[in-house]
Amino acid sequence: MENTVLFSGEEFAKLKTDLVLYQCALNNMKTRVETLLNEFIHLKEYNPIEHVKSRLKSPESIADKLHKRQFALTAENARTQLTDIAGIRCICSYAKDIKTLAEVLTRQPDIKILKKRDYVTNPKKSGYRSYHLIIEVPIYLTDVTERLPVEVQIRTQAMDFWASLEHKVRYKFNDEMPDAITRNLWECAEKIAELDKEMFQIQDVANLTRQTAMPRRETPPL
Ligand code: GTP
Ligand code: MG
Repeated sequence: MENTVLFSGEEFAKLKTDLVLYQCALNNMKTRVETLLNEFIHLKEYNPIEHVKSRLKSPESIADKLHKRQFALTAENARTQLTDIAGIRCICSYAKDIKTLAEVLTRQPDIKILKKRDYVTNPKKSGYRSYHLIIEVPIYLTDVTERLPVEVQIRTQAMDFWASLEHKVRYKFNDEMPDAITRNLWECAEKIAELDKEMFQIQDVANLTRQTAMPRRETPPL
């Protein structure tokens, strides 16, 4: 599926320049999340973030996506049509942590929320669950301030496990998944949502005992 279409030499050179800015935007967002993580771990009693992943879309994937959406392969189209060139994924412990983290991020005063999609409350037809934000962050250069979008996906570990498998299966079947697998994956997504709820209930009960039995601040796992 990948590498079937390519940018011209000139457009590729422009895109490479833009990707430097997208990397800065991604670093900017990573720092915001890391700052919160440090606060949660060292200054608060509870840390909702299990781990964080990030990636910059490759020129090949950018070309594929523009091609799929029937846009000419230009750096300008990449900039104006795609909002997921820079992407960060925050994996939370429990479903209730997802909105907390989304709210904290959206409250930051120097960013602009371009899009909000709550696929936790309203799962996709596939069963997919996650909270998505497209956040525009400011990048301060010598003469100008650039504003670039970063896609932020917030989900639980169980939702991440599901999305990762579904993505691989979908890719393998080239977006034409057999009905039985589609149904099976949807059922798994429902079970996972149930599991997320039960896991939360267990920790909720455990938390009550921890207040008396365990030290207040635990060392986070590596
Ligand atoms: P994309 O063109 O796929 O980026 O979709 P979009 O711009 O309409 O945004 P949407 O919020 O639907 O999806 C953004 C991203 O969420 C995707 O690129 C995937 O990473 C993820 N995603 C959305 N739907 C699904 C799904 O059904 N399965 C999996 N595994 N991931 C999904
Ligand atoms: Mg995407």
